Amino acid sequence: MCGIIGYVGGRDVPSVLLGGLWRLEYRGYDSSGIAVISNGELIVRKVPGKLSELEELIKRKPVHGTIGVGHTRWATHGLPQENNTHPLLDCNEEMALVVNGIIENYVALKDELEGKGHIFRSLTDSEVIVHLIEEYLKKGLAEAVKLTVRRLNGNFAFAVISAGERNRLVCARHDAPLICCYNSKEAAVASDISGVVSIFDEVIHIPNDSIVVLGRGKCTITNFQGKEIKVPAQKVSIEVGDIDKGHFPHFMAKEIFEQPKVLHNIVSERIIDSRIHPGDELGLSNDELKKVSRIVIQACGTSWHAGLVGKYLIEKFARIHTEVDISSEFRYRDAVLDSDTLVMAISQSGETADTIAGLREAKVKFLKVLSLVNVVQSSIHRESDGIIEILAGPEIGVASTKAYTAEIVNLYFFALYIGLLRGFVNKAELTKHFTALKKVPVQVEQILQLDAQIKEIAEIFCDSRDFLFLGRGLNYATALEGALKLKEISYINATGYAAGEMKHGPIALIDSKMPIVCINPRSSVYEKMLNNIQEVITRKGIPICIVTRGDRRTRTVSKHSILIPECLEYVSPILSVVPLQLLAYHIATLKGLDVDRPRNLAKSVTVE
Ligand code: M6R
Repeated sequence: MCGIIGYVGGRDVPSVLLGGLWRLEYRGYDSSGIAVISNGELIVRKVPGKLSELEELIKRKPVHGTIGVGHTRWATHGLPQENNTHPLLDCNEEMALVVNGIIENYVALKDELEGKGHIFRSLTDSEVIVHLIEEYLKKGLAEAVKLTVRRLNGNFAFAVISAGERNRLVCARHDAPLICCYNSKEAAVASDISGVVSIFDEVIHIPNDSIVVLGRGKCTITNFQGKEIKVPAQKVSIEVGDIDKGHFPHFMAKEIFEQPKVLHNIVSERIIDSRIHPGDELGLSNDELKKVSRIVIQACGTSWHAGLVGKYLIEKFARIHTEVDISSEFRYRDAVLDSDTLVMAISQSGETADTIAGLREAKVKFLKVLSLVNVVQSSIHRESDGIIEILAGPEIGVASTKAYTAEIVNLYFFALYIGLLRGFVNKAELTKHFTALKKVPVQVEQILQLDAQIKEIAEIFCDSRDFLFLGRGLNYATALEGALKLKEISYINATGYAAGEMKHGPIALIDSKMPIVCINPRSSVYEKMLNNIQEVITRKGIPICIVTRGDRRTRTVSKHSILIPECLEYVSPILSVVPLQLLAYHIATLKGLDVDRPRNLAKSVTVE
């Protein structure tokens, strides 16, 4: 989850490292540091706390050099304090290492290395790497890294520099992301493209289980056995502007408000000449898709919630039995997977460790994996048999917003596509769905215009201690997602529940202080949900209702209602989540919290 960067070249190295770290900060932000080789000496600047504090420190104590590494940390082992902050150094302070990942056998390695006299300064698991490299250094840095990676269990990506070899960066990856770039004048390595986007326009996606020796005009990639691998560079697909806040105060706000544009793009990409175009990388023929008798969707967090909506849509339109599993459960539960089961992974980042592991679990059982993924060339993209690109554009805010609605729209198209293939969707129905989906971008725009009203509701409830979110059917997932959005950025205890399940326990929580967000757009479960709202009111709970315009019945019983446009029931989870994103955003900002850097979290969860 940490962000790593390394650079060698003629630019001002600390500025390049800091620039990269700012763009990688979403990966983790509890401490940060850089190390630069200056006149043969390794100079380190690091601070626990915000990246702005590192920037201040470097201003106060400038460093100069032509090669360096930087790191922004999401702590796993060892508190976010200075000694645990990367770069980590060897005993002689001649090498600096930045790592993302977890070394699972670090205790045994540490015992062994301490036995040999190595002095450890941190409580991190990663420090063993730099001492192992030191142990093997006589053979040269690249060879030492090769010997080191063979000793490590877990997942990792790292970059190391040595005062003894001032022109090259050596990096390695195993199950954690890493890219590199180079030309005749300079070279860089980073956790992802955003770290280097301002400098390079071509990028190499480093293959898993490989080591890279990188310098000006040179890049040698070998596998862990030492065999050289040729990997073509690819055009960088994003621009600096794509990962900029623009005029918004937070990435989260920018991304919420980007949804109409994103959804419009997806609808335009997926409907071509009145036919569904699921993309060119499905990786399964229509015949193979027709044979699928069961689908297992596995994903984490918000992507898992999108999967829940996907289940309803696939079962409704394609009549295929669909299960949705949390990846961290799926990967270990030895699921029954028959040969005609299709496994689907959903992931914005394409780097979520549990989702990757779930994907591999399916592949070990010789099953095809079709993934919805936003970041192209991510691990999930590369390891899946086929992909549907989510097309949300870069999502930086830790709280996922536009990726969620984009995932649902793509699942909607996929469900229709496979439903058509299997003969469960006819032409007239398809036209009806197309009409509904084409309206979505404008409808989301209309909901965004309710921002001021939603902020007023946020002002009323921002000091509430607990929230309950209730929904049914397709909007059960909306309840879960609304609760996740609120809790992750406002730290308010928020529970999402299937409304019909409320009386089996959570109803006991309701009192006159509790806001209960009830998602009740016009749908097949409208009346049932209305009953649940009445039950809430009878217990003196305070309903905040998401309802369809023109719905008087819910509004008469609820003082706080947010109106969404009239839509097909299947579209409603796309629309009804938008007010909940805004509600969470406003509550968190009213509480003075940093919504783009919520405590304890990171955007890309690359450790299990
Ligand atoms: O990149 P992914 O879609 O695989 O990420 C999954 C979750 O880590 C992610 O959705 C997380 O729950 C977000 N913080 C939710 O806002």
